[in-house]
Amino acid sequence: MEEYLAINRTSWDERAPAHAASPGYAVARFAEDPEFLSDVVRFDLPRLGDVRGLRGVHLQCHIGTDTVSLARLGARMTGLDLSPASLAEARRVAELAGADVDFVEAETYAAVDVLGREQFDLVFTGVGAICWLPDIGRWAQVVADLLRPGGRLFMREGHPVLWALADARPDGLLVLEYPYFEHEDAQVWDEPGTYVETDVAFVHNTTHSWNHGLGEIVTALLANGLELTMLVEHDSVPWEALEGQMDKLEGGEFRFADRPDRLPHSYTLQAVKPGRGKPSA
Ligand SMILES: C[S@@+](CC[C@H](N)C(=O)[O-])C[C@H]1O[C@@H](n2cnc3c(N)ncnc32)[C@H](O)[C@@H]1O
Repeated sequence: MEEYLAINRTSWDERAPAHAASPGYAVARFAEDPEFLSDVVRFDLPRLGDVRGLRGVHLQCHIGTDTVSLARLGARMTGLDLSPASLAEARRVAELAGADVDFVEAETYAAVDVLGREQFDLVFTGVGAICWLPDIGRWAQVVADLLRPGGRLFMREGHPVLWALADARPDGLLVLEYPYFEHEDAQVWDEPGTYVETDVAFVHNTTHSWNHGLGEIVTALLANGLELTMLVEHDSVPWEALEGQMDKLEGGEFRFADRPDRLPHSYTLQAVKPGRGKPSA
């Protein structure tokens, strides 16, 4: 296993149980309410379309809350993730929810080897996923290879402009500090916390990540034969990206309190693999 994968996996393995226990992920709600959906999936319902009967794969599914939500909407879901501890939580979430979901341990670039070529009508990914992958072109090829002709990629992500921002500053200014474009070298972080409320003190805090510009993402998908059918930039994001500077909105979203229209916070993208297949959008 490459070094960056091992380093990131250790960090995610340690954080997964704390995430599953956090109020933010609301795992218990899946047991209490058979109609409950994750905030991320609920946010995109106006754009998602009918997923009933689709064979779907959720790349980097983490603890499976979005995967299970898509299953509740009628898709036959497989979740894939690098982190065994995340998948253990995901299996528990699916059981609590009474959802029949397959979870598979693999790194994203190995997804086609593990799951097969052109097996899926829907590839779903989102919210803090592609930043863990060094090469967006390689990711786009995996997505294209997983999809059946006529199938689609549906993703929600933090915006690369947001990822490029410096940490919260006392003067409240938003400053671009980190790369917007993809670089070969990883950004190496040493951060003790996580993005949800927790009292757990973590010890494995090093991660390696990469930003990818919006143009790079779209170009990579087009270069792998997909057609872009939706790109919506949002003025909210589903985690508190800059501590102390964001308002919490209904539905688990956060928005900069001061002049939020200065920058896109997140985006939803859909791209379709041309060809005749089961209609999926
Ligand atoms: C921020 S979480 C995704 C969050 C997810 N959208 C959610 O809110 O539940 C990132 C996930 O990506 C997984 N991951 C990171 N790098 C990966 C890789 N190269 N291949 C597969 N999974 C990876 C981690 O194990 C982690 O579960």
